[in-house]
Order: sequence, then C-alpha cells, then structure tokens
Amino acid sequence: MNEHYPFVNPPLPYAYDALEPYIDTQTMYIHHDRLLQRYVANLNAILSGYPELQNLSLEEMLRDPSKLPEPVRQGIINNGGGLYNHTIYFNGMTPSETRSEAQALYPVIIRYFGTVERFFDEFKAYALAVFGSGYAWLIVEPDGRLRIVMTPNQNTPVSNGLCVVAGIDVWEHAYFLKRFNDRAAYIEDWFHVVSWEAANERYVNCINGE
Ligand SMILES: [Fe+2]
Repeated sequence: MNEHYPFVNPPLPYAYDALEPYIDTQTMYIHHDRLLQRYVANLNAILSGYPELQNLSLEEMLRDPSKLPEPVRQGIINNGGGLYNHTIYFNGMTPSETRSEAQALYPVIIRYFGTVERFFDEFKAYALAVFGSGYAWLIVEPDGRLRIVMTPNQNTPVSNGLCVVAGIDVWEHAYFLKRFNDRAAYIEDWFHVVSWEAANERYVNCINGE
C-alpha cells in the first residue's frame, strides 16, 4: 500500500471489465476512478495542513485514531479508512481461478469454519447484516484466531488491532447499478472473483506480524 502523503489512488490490478459478468464495468469505473479518487483527494487536502502527519503511513494513522488531532480525526477515519479499505477490496479480487493459491489460508479456514462453503455462508450472513454502509472482513486476531467482523462506514479493523485477510465493500455504490438493492446477489458475485492468492498473502503477513 502507498506509503504516505501525498497519497495516490492505486491503479486497479486488472482492467475495468475484467470481473465481468460478476462485477460490471461501469460500477468498477465509478467506484475506483470517482469514489475512491474522492477519498484520496479529501485525505490529501486534510493532511496538507498537518505536516506532522505527512510522514505517517495510512496504517500508522488508522491504528489508533485517538492519537490524531481532534479537528481532523473523523476526516482521516472516513477518507483514510476509505483509501485503506478500498485498496484491500480492489486488490482482493481477480478474474483468475486462485483457490489453489491459498496453501496457508485454506487449512485455517477449514479449522475455524469446517468447510469453505460454511465459511462463505457465515461471511455472507455478516455482509448481509451490515446496516447501511460498511464492510464485512475476514481478520486475524492478535492471538492468531481467524474471525469474521463488520465495520460501519469507512471504519477499518486496523483501528481495533485486527489484521485484515480479506474484505467486501457492501456500500450500495458497490452493487446498485447491477444488482439494485439485492446485496445477497452481489455477495454471491464477489465469491466468484475473490482472490484467494491475495487473501493468502495477507494471511501470511498477518501471522508473521508484517
Ligand atoms: Fe466503496
């Protein structure tokens, strides 16, 4: 992830239409180039007046928001969290078949959830239960346990001391153009394009403390 101010909008690691038919091209374009771009611009505008924050990484700022200056705290939670969360979300999808790439993560999913299908069922239930806008995440607890959590708005699990393995954006802007208000159908779409390779890499980094 990009290091510090001025932050940039990381390019998608695939073409706008690469996740068709599951995630449509227009949604990807608006979501990445307009919505995420606005979070990046807002974050940079906020940080432009705070030189003492300009050398901090996103994670350093978001790990303990209570340490941020009060006038910009919520703005950084919203816009910095928006950049952090979306980067994980966009980089966590792929048009390729990647299940075989989850050598480290797969056995841990089986240990905590029984089967991949039961993991999907539980993850879907959490993603459906987010009231309004937010995310569902697969995270690693500080003691190494694998768990599913939700965050509202652009809050991020990093602020709760949790390490993110994978996450789904369930703001309506992520699916409304294609699925209207059918969030369940969008979650099913996401399961088709989730990058097990990216999740596996994040999991390995989590357990290695990186
Ligand atoms: Fe989003």
